[in-house]
Amino acid sequence: MRIAVIGTGYVGLVSGACFSEFGVTTVCVDKDASKIERLNRGEIPIFEPGLDDLVAKNAKAGRLSFTTDLAAAVKGVDAVFIAVGTPSRRGDGHADLSYVYAAAQEVALALDPDRYTVIVTKSTVPVGTGREVARIIGETRSGLDFDVCSNPEFLREGAAIADFMRPDRVVIGAESDRARAVMKALYRPLYLIETPIVMTSLETSELIKYAANTFLATKITFINEVADLCEKVGANVHDVAKGIGLDGRIGRKFLHAGAGYGGSCFPKDTLALARTAADVGSPLRIVETVIDINDKRKKSMAGRIVAAANGTVEGKRIGILGVTFKPNTDDMRDAPSLDIIPELQRLGATVQAYDPAGMQEAEHLLPGVVWCADAYAAIQDTDVLAIITEWNEFRALDLDRVRRSMKAPVLVDLRNIYNPDDMSAAGFTYTSIGRPARR
Ligand code: UDX
Repeated sequence: MRIAVIGTGYVGLVSGACFSEFGVTTVCVDKDASKIERLNRGEIPIFEPGLDDLVAKNAKAGRLSFTTDLAAAVKGVDAVFIAVGTPSRRGDGHADLSYVYAAAQEVALALDPDRYTVIVTKSTVPVGTGREVARIIGETRSGLDFDVCSNPEFLREGAAIADFMRPDRVVIGAESDRARAVMKALYRPLYLIETPIVMTSLETSELIKYAANTFLATKITFINEVADLCEKVGANVHDVAKGIGLDGRIGRKFLHAGAGYGGSCFPKDTLALARTAADVGSPLRIVETVIDINDKRKKSMAGRIVAAANGTVEGKRIGILGVTFKPNTDDMRDAPSLDIIPELQRLGATVQAYDPAGMQEAEHLLPGVVWCADAYAAIQDTDVLAIITEWNEFRALDLDRVRRSMKAPVLVDLRNIYNPDDMSAAGFTYTSIGRPARR
């Protein structure tokens, strides 16, 4: 089998590398020549554990290559995956599909008319996009032999390769036997490990992706609100999450209370689904509320740090551990730190911070921050220390050293990575999310 993957962002690059690992000859295409040059040198433009080895191995075996030449890349392939970006459109929150449609047009002009080809939308695209892609291809060039499929990707940043290779399920929107056969052949290794495959229509497949992300964002937002309630009534959200999550109907995952969800998917996809639903006259009010609560939550987190600093951070030095939206990524998109840090600075604090992977990305987004070489440098001489991202290396800090380096041992743990009793025993004034504070 041969495929072309258009777009070498997270989804495109990971999918391309993983399909090549499945034995499919894969060409990844991107307009950005410098990115393609870097990939051809074996440099990976994103931070994703294990991806460098996977790319190197398959490139060496001749199954994976990178080019800017879309027309050459789609010659003789069985399928073309469109994995370009679908950012939120400024102003109305709808997904911006201009890159998807432009790619569809270019593909149509380059396809071999004598060869049946499946065009697959891999990017997260609103309901109706697949059908529009088919219309654009048919209109751009008549006589092509093709079908359009929807095959949304559910991978998480930081666990992308495992998520692709051993997914809970694969969702495929395909409406002809020929298209289904091509998709089945591409995913053969997953059939062999008995991964559930959901075959459905284009619209259903497109909606599954949005409904999945929105449901998870709702689950997180629910537990975040329960955490606030726990603080008021003296309950412990960790135990509440465990107690409800053990009910198989609820499930334990995505019940970790924190600073609010961020990243490249949840904020954008919840907004796009809410807009689509409102536009067709079937509003998803629960989703509209989730979006509103999460935005406010991220903004309110600075207030917790101010409260821990006895009501004012003016002239104080605040240490921050972790700025990326979650661990194991350098991604800063919609990270809670982008709301928290500027607010602390506005209130007169000096912020010094450390992140294992995100500082380069964060530098231009968070001006005025003193960037530190390691966690202990970010802790030195601070009045309050706040953990915003739960990187593993922050879970095992030398607490004696932390306490001695700080002006006052005040820790705000927005990810609940420490135990309140342990922190109290170690001499800290400790606040976390949805659990009793300790002095
Ligand atoms: C998500 C989906 O999980 C994935 O299926 C989809 O393809 C893309 O979007 P990702 O954005 O990489 O993946 O990260 P994820 O691990 O899902 O976390 C998203 C956000 O939710 C992060 O900000 C994280 O901190 C937050 N989160 C997650 C919580 O606050 N609590 C949780 O229990 C889980």
